[in-house]
Amino acid sequence: MRARISGTGSCIPLHRLDNEAISRMVDTSDAWIRERTGIESRHVICEESTVSMAAEAAERALQNAGMDPEEIDMILVSTISSEVILPCTACEVQRRIGAVNAAGFDINAACAGFLVAYQTAEMYIASGMYRNILVIGSEGLSHLVNWKDRGTCILFGDGAGAAVVTSQSGERLEGACHSDGKKGTALTCRTRYNEDEMPDDRCYMQMDGQAVFRFAVKKVPEVIEEVLEKNHLSKDEIDWFILHQANGRILESVARRLEVGIEKFPMNLQEYGNTSSASVPILLDEMNRKGCLKPGQNIVMAAFGAGLTWGASIIQWQ
Ligand code: COA
Repeated sequence: MRARISGTGSCIPLHRLDNEAISRMVDTSDAWIRERTGIESRHVICEESTVSMAAEAAERALQNAGMDPEEIDMILVSTISSEVILPCTACEVQRRIGAVNAAGFDINAACAGFLVAYQTAEMYIASGMYRNILVIGSEGLSHLVNWKDRGTCILFGDGAGAAVVTSQSGERLEGACHSDGKKGTALTCRTRYNEDEMPDDRCYMQMDGQAVFRFAVKKVPEVIEEVLEKNHLSKDEIDWFILHQANGRILESVARRLEVGIEKFPMNLQEYGNTSSASVPILLDEMNRKGCLKPGQNIVMAAFGAGLTWGASIIQWQ
């Protein structure tokens, strides 16, 4: 069996924080942030939560797929920033949307999490165990960001995206994902500290920005080439490259290295910043709702993040 995406949804928090607002909090400027990242604003949760955004994105995806919650067999939520550890976000989503027949669990592969969750769903579908799986990326990163650290707080934003992944007959498209724990120190965040120690900056995200940049521009083109080869597809046969929205310069570099026109790399990081594992499904949903995705088109999804982790998948739009 093969997986296809039969519906998408997303949820963006109402509160918008532009670069001018950030430059009143830390020593930075709108010009610096735009030039180094392409980001102009990000949205942050106030009334919303990681769980509520996940449920809302899921409901919109179900509506888009024309499916009832009872038809969902499994819910997979990728998140690193849920307000609740127990119960897992997937079970909370199940309760809120009434997906009474679904099993569910959460996945943490940082910004590559949606890709890993999608590939997990593909495997359940390929095995014949499940038919309809809700795959969600939801992040409230504003709680993990140190708003005094200009090296990180300019980058991240909150939001959620979801896809209904459904089985259909046909050969499975091969994906790829990788990890390199030896380089894990490039991007870290502790949730607990020794009781003798005072809480400190390590409880917020800490990043070696240049190390992450170098890793992304090398590994993302490599893993895209890998999935193209596995599926016997050429770059010319790909209509869209829907990549993790971390930095406009990273996307430009990936496009250059692949020798593919940047117009095939849609971007919305200007508005939302880096929403970690929510970025790929939010962009997918925007593209879907704008009518940019046409039946039969081949789409590469690729992402990278803390771990370090990275991966890519190919989907054929229906
Ligand atoms: N505003 C103004 N100046 C800043 C700044 C900010 N927000 N952040 C850093 N600077 C300063 C630095 O202190 C440094 O000053 P110096 O030259 O006087 O020492 C200068 O700008 C250059 O810093 P550098 O770290 O070399 O900038 P950069 O071009 O590498 O850009 C990032 C920094 C974080 C934007 C970039 O490295 C990046 O995007 N990396 C990838 C991060 C990422 O995607 N993470 C998520 C992965 S899922």
